[in-house]
Formats: sequence, structure tokens, C-alpha cells
Amino acid sequence: MKKIVIALAGLGILVGAFSAYAGPEEDRQKLVSYFKNKYPDLKFDDYIYSALAFDPDAKSQYNSIMEFPPYLSELEKGEKLWNTPLKSGKTYADCLPNGGKMIAGNYPLFDDARGKVITLEDALNDCRKANGEEAYKNADPKTMGLLSAYMRTLSDGMKVNIKVVGEGALKAYEDGKKTFYRRAGQLNFSCGSCHVDNAGLRIRSELLSPVIGQTTHWPAFRGGDKLVTLQKRYEGCQKNVRHSPDKAGSTRYNNLEYFHSYMSNGLEMKSSVFRK
Ligand code: HEC
Repeated sequence: MKKIVIALAGLGILVGAFSAYAGPEEDRQKLVSYFKNKYPDLKFDDYIYSALAFDPDAKSQYNSIMEFPPYLSELEKGEKLWNTPLKSGKTYADCLPNGGKMIAGNYPLFDDARGKVITLEDALNDCRKANGEEAYKNADPKTMGLLSAYMRTLSDGMKVNIKVVGEGALKAYEDGKKTFYRRAGQLNFSCGSCHVDNAGLRIRSELLSPVIGQTTHWPAFRGGDKLVTLQKRYEGCQKNVRHSPDKAGSTRYNNLEYFHSYMSNGLEMKSSVFRK
């Protein structure tokens, strides 16, 4: 008996040593407590509002715009795409888990069989290809943008629930994390320089949103009807800091989205939102 206890104690030390390795959940919790220390009055659930969470006036304007969003007719176009049968006669609802409802928070996911990250847009394209259609361009605002915008509304209220399990998944996650914290471009900024270190502060006239919550509400309709997908926003931010951007749908962006979405785990999703 005594021997077993000693063996278990030894194991405890080993487990302790291993847990010093910062895995995804530890990364996320570190960021949550970093922001909690910095902004103790901001509730965790309010991170879904991104920069608006720091600006009550802008938030109340946003609330009134969201009562009757100017992009509703765009979402209707997306609904039509969603309901139109594919060449095989099947619909998207037929080929996605749970008829495509309350699943958006599981994406991106790591597909072990294919050894890569699959975004929701990839899953929709897989469905198209398996049913006799050509893939849409990942961030095309007229096709995949509208289709994914509508499809995501079917997951409103779901909590982000990204999983990183297994070696391949962890590698992809680490790659995304590296992209997020990599300093580059003429200004030598990383995503983290703005959305961690300076989140809640202004850069020129713009309030910087915190990384937590950033992936919960896509696509966004800027100025009312200009659809911007999450990965298009990545391109925009990289261009702003004169960082040669990757392309929406690239492995680098998919891995970035995987890491980035994990940081929003536990927050409610809502598609879509108005942005200035
Ligand atoms: C020089 C600062 C800067 C850098 C670096 C930067 N961004 Fe941004 N980003 C902004 C500004 C300004 C906005 C608009 C205000 C806001 O919502 O934060 C923004 C907005 C965003 C948004 C939209 C937030 C929302 O809810 O509408 C996302 C997502 C985002 N950035 C991700 C990234 C990622 C990922 C990177 C790295 C590839 C990055 N940003 C690098 C300044 C930056």
C-alpha cells in the first residue's frame, strides 16, 4: 500500500512537470486573467462585443442598428443559397452534422484523417464537391460569404467550443499561435501587439478589440452591407501594418483561425453583426 502511495506521489510530480507546458487551455486562461486584471469591470460575456465593449456610446448606437440590421436582405440571399439543392439533389443540411444547426462553434476543427484544419467554409465546400458542385472561393462575399453568413445564424447562441486533441491538432494550433504573435512588417507589430497589449486603447481614432471574443460574430457587414469574412479581416489587419498578407483559405490563415477561435471558447456566437 505504502509503495503505491509513493508511486502515485511520484506520478503527481511528473504530471506537475508536464503541466508546466502551456497547452491551449492554459493559453486561453492566461489571456482571460490578463484581461480580467486589466479591465476588472468588463464581464467575460461582454467580450463578444469586441471594441464596443469599451465604448458605451458606440455600443448603444450599435444596439439600435442591430434592432433592424441593414443587411437583412443580404442574409435572405444567403438563406436562398442554403436552401437551394445541389446537383445531386441533396442540400447542405443533408451533408452537415445536425442539419447544420448549432455546430458553427465546433469550427474550425482538426480533421485527423486529412491531417489539417477544416473551417466551416471548408466544410460547406466539401459538401458542394461531394454533391457535384464546384467549390466556392473561401471569402467571396457574393457566394461563400452569404452562404456561411446565413448558415452561422443557425448557431446563434451556441458557445464557441474548439477542441485541440492529438499531435496533429496541437501542431496546427501552435502554428496559428505563432502567426498571431509573430512580429513583422515595417511597423514590427504582431496581432498580439494590438489585440492583446493595446486592446481597449485607441490607435488613431479606433478602439482596439481584445483577442478574446473576436471570432464570435462573423461575417461582419461593414457600413451596413459590405460583407467581410473573418479571414478577409485578417488580410485587412495585415495590410494595415504593411505585413504582406496571406490569402483567405490558406493553411496559415486556417491555422491562425484555429488558434484564434480557441481563445473565444465559452463565448456565445452571433451571426452577423454591423460594423462601421
Ligand atoms: C496596428 C494594430 C493592429 C494589428 C497589428 C492587427 N490589427 Fe486587427 N484590428 C485593428 C483595428 C484598428 C481594428 C478595428 C477595431 C477593432 O475592432 O479592433 C481591428 C479589427 C480586427 C478584428 C475585428 C474585430 C471585430 O469584432 O470587428 C479582427 C478579428 C482582427 N482585427 C484580427 C487581427 C489579427 C488576427 C491580426 C494579426 C494578423 C491583427 N488583427 C493585427 C488593428 C490591428
